[in-house]
Amino acid sequence: MTEQPTEISATATAEGAEAPKKLFIKTYGCQMNVYDSERMAEALGAKGYVTTEVAEEADMVLLNTCHIREKAAEKVYSDLGRLRPLKQAKPDLKIGVAGCVAQAEGEEILKRMPLVDLVVGPQSYHRLPEMVEAKGKVVDTDFPEEDKFDHLPQRKALRGPTAFLTVQEGCDKFCAFCVVPYTRGAEVSRPAARLLAEARDLVSRGVREITLLGQNVNGYHGAGEGGTWGLGRLLREMAAIDGLDRLRYTTSHPNDMDDDLIAAHAEVPQLMPYLHLPVQSGSDRILKAMNRKHTAEQYLRLIERIRAARPDILLSSDFIVGFPGETDTDFEATMDLIRAVGFGAAFSFKYSARPGTPAAEKPELPAEVSDARLQALQALITEQQRAAQMAMVGREVGVLYEKPGRLPGQMVGKSDHLHAVHVTDSLGKPGQLVRVRITGSAPNSLAGEPLRD
Ligand code: SAH
Ligand code: SF4
Ligand code: F3S
Repeated sequence: MTEQPTEISATATAEGAEAPKKLFIKTYGCQMNVYDSERMAEALGAKGYVTTEVAEEADMVLLNTCHIREKAAEKVYSDLGRLRPLKQAKPDLKIGVAGCVAQAEGEEILKRMPLVDLVVGPQSYHRLPEMVEAKGKVVDTDFPEEDKFDHLPQRKALRGPTAFLTVQEGCDKFCAFCVVPYTRGAEVSRPAARLLAEARDLVSRGVREITLLGQNVNGYHGAGEGGTWGLGRLLREMAAIDGLDRLRYTTSHPNDMDDDLIAAHAEVPQLMPYLHLPVQSGSDRILKAMNRKHTAEQYLRLIERIRAARPDILLSSDFIVGFPGETDTDFEATMDLIRAVGFGAAFSFKYSARPGTPAAEKPELPAEVSDARLQALQALITEQQRAAQMAMVGREVGVLYEKPGRLPGQMVGKSDHLHAVHVTDSLGKPGQLVRVRITGSAPNSLAGEPLRD
């Protein structure tokens, strides 16, 4: 999953409260945190909070944090430091830390940052409404018996015509470098009927595209009619919802791409031709040390099967460079794999040792070595990304308009292949799904003209 700091601007309405209080939420880390932030805003909405995009006017600041790499986790502390003057000027200001840093560090956060009032983990944030009313400091990093989703209010906050929907949480894979199994806990799938109801609700509020989320989304195995459903079945049933035009899912593990899911890419027109399938490394030795449980060859064969089902699919991946023990030969194997696949996009990271993970015990590579490898890998990916974008020029694609662009008469949205597209369309409105001819390619987006009769 990608790291995109996002500040949500959803409006939650006050129910039976006096004067509205203002809530500022900052989201770090993956899309699942974006989803959680929306649900936290909705939960606090029931306590009279409305969201604001201006931290200075907030009565409560909530940081929904990420622990995946050291830099991500440390950013939270520098942001907390920057809140100090605000807290001094406004002693009643409540400051909360949620998400994966909250889960991993718990009470430690209060020790290191006394200005924090509450700490809440990713599995217990349905208790936020009680926590904000508590006198004194509160920490809740439980993995409760009850399902938080049963205790959260109905969906309200929306980000326009696209929405996220968490279908699965946690991870049992224990890759040697990764904190997620510890911060999010064991893999749990939400029941299919609830997910279909939430999706219908979102569609009735104007959503046309839903991205199903999970740390291991394709490992989905939720209770459904007639037994356990896999992700393929869930996608097929979602596609039957009237008015839901597009479906995506992220993030997947190669070992969980089953035949039914691959077939869904051929058979479900609403399922968009884009797949994020992290491989991390192209060296079998490193894949083994990472506990990824597949080889480079198995990954390449899998890509062949996916492309046979959906020839125009655009693939993206995550890579870690400088994993302990990675040699030049291992790194070259990763570059070879990238050349063999041809990715449309990718996220790449320098290995970061995380406390409590098995890989953290091993000696690290010199920073210059990892830096140089990261640079080389990113240059190759950029080349492939540009080539994939250039290949779109002249083609006709669907674009779901999300918002007006910076220039007058311009709309911005995503193509079927998840490219950002700037469309010259003075008649365009957010929420429209328009056929567009791609006319040009800029470094990180495409340009296009609408095809209207
Ligand atoms: N469940 C998802 C991803 C979770 S984290 C998956 O399996 O792909 C998103 C990405 O962060 C990972 O794919 C990995 O590339 C990167 N990442 C995770 N732990 C890391 C670490 N310790 N150092 C550097 N990158 C890491
Ligand atoms: Fe982390 Fe691996 Fe699980 Fe992904 S599959 S969340 S990288 S442990
Ligand atoms: Fe980060 Fe937690 Fe997501 S560690 S990537 S916010 S699951």
